[in-house]
Formats: sequence, structure tokens, C-alpha cells
Amino acid sequence: MNNVTAIYPGSFDPTTNGHVDLIRRGSRLFHSLIVAVLTNLEKKPLFSLRDRVEMLREVTRGMSNVSVETFSGLLIDYARRRKARAILRGLRAFSDYEYELRMALVNRKLEPELETVFLMPTESYAYVSSRLVKEIAQLGGPIGGLVPPPIEKKLRLKFGRR
Ligand code: PNS
Repeated sequence: MNNVTAIYPGSFDPTTNGHVDLIRRGSRLFHSLIVAVLTNLEKKPLFSLRDRVEMLREVTRGMSNVSVETFSGLLIDYARRRKARAILRGLRAFSDYEYELRMALVNRKLEPELETVFLMPTESYAYVSSRLVKEIAQLGGPIGGLVPPPIEKKLRLKFGRR
């Protein structure tokens, strides 16, 4: 999609291999992709905003048309400011569908010119979520293969395991 800038918004608390897979797919599809980290999360995040941004920058370092930014307020306002024409979101299991449909339709109502584009992650990451990864890490389970190695290390440190 020539000249289309897309935004991939999310909490990224923390980045999983599913996110990285989607960023890679999006970077091939769009002219440029902005990974946008939401600053004002409803729930207290495990990782600070700074950590979440740093982790994303580290794992997207080799992707020349990908940048990482933060945003607050309405996504459509941010998209307008960044002149983005698409929002990228991942669809994993069927259970994502209702939440994603609602968000996409609300955003379309607010800004009809902005399209939400859904991509599916590699099937091996279809069950991976930040929430599950945090739970496994907290309980001392193995998270290798679910998150990129630098994030695995950060999670282990966070929960006092080396
Ligand atoms: O990774 P997440 O937590 O599922 O991402 C949710 C996110 C950040 C995409 C969503 O909460 C969002 O866009 N928040 C910004 C506020 C907004 O625009 N709300 C109206 C659209 S639902």
C-alpha cells in the first residue's frame, strides 16, 4: 500500500512474539508503520511506559519503516495528527472478534476515513497474549518462544528469577 501510513496501537505490556509477528507483517504491507503505545492504561501496567517503548524499539531495530511512539487520548485524533490512513490490529482467536469489531466500528463512526486492517499472526502465536505471558512468568513457568529474548530477560528480572 503505497504511501499509506498505518498505526499499530496497543498497551504492549509487554511485547510478545505475536506483536512482533504482526509488526513484521504490517511493515511489509504499509509504506510506514507507527507502533503506538497507549500512555494512560486503565489497569496499572507491569512495565513503565519507558520500558514498554524501549522494548519495542529494541525488537524492531532492524525494520526501517517502523517507528515507535506513545499516544494518549483518542486514537483517531492521534491518527489524524500523524496523517495515518489505517489502524492495524491483530486477530487471534475468535474471542478477539467482538472486542475488535466494537473498537473498529467506534473508530469508524468517529472517523469514517480511517480504516482498521486486521492481520492474523502465525498460528503458533495465536494463543499468545501479554496477560498470559505475565501470568506464566509470575508463576515461574517457561516463557521462551512466547516473547523475544530481551523481554524474557526483563520478565525474569521483574519476578526475581534469573
Ligand atoms: O493492546 P490493547 O490494550 O488491546 O489496545 C487497546 C487500544 C490501545 C487500541 C485502545 O484501548 C485504544 O485505542 N485506546 C485509545 C482511546 C480510544 O481511542 N478509545 C476509543 C476507541 S475504542
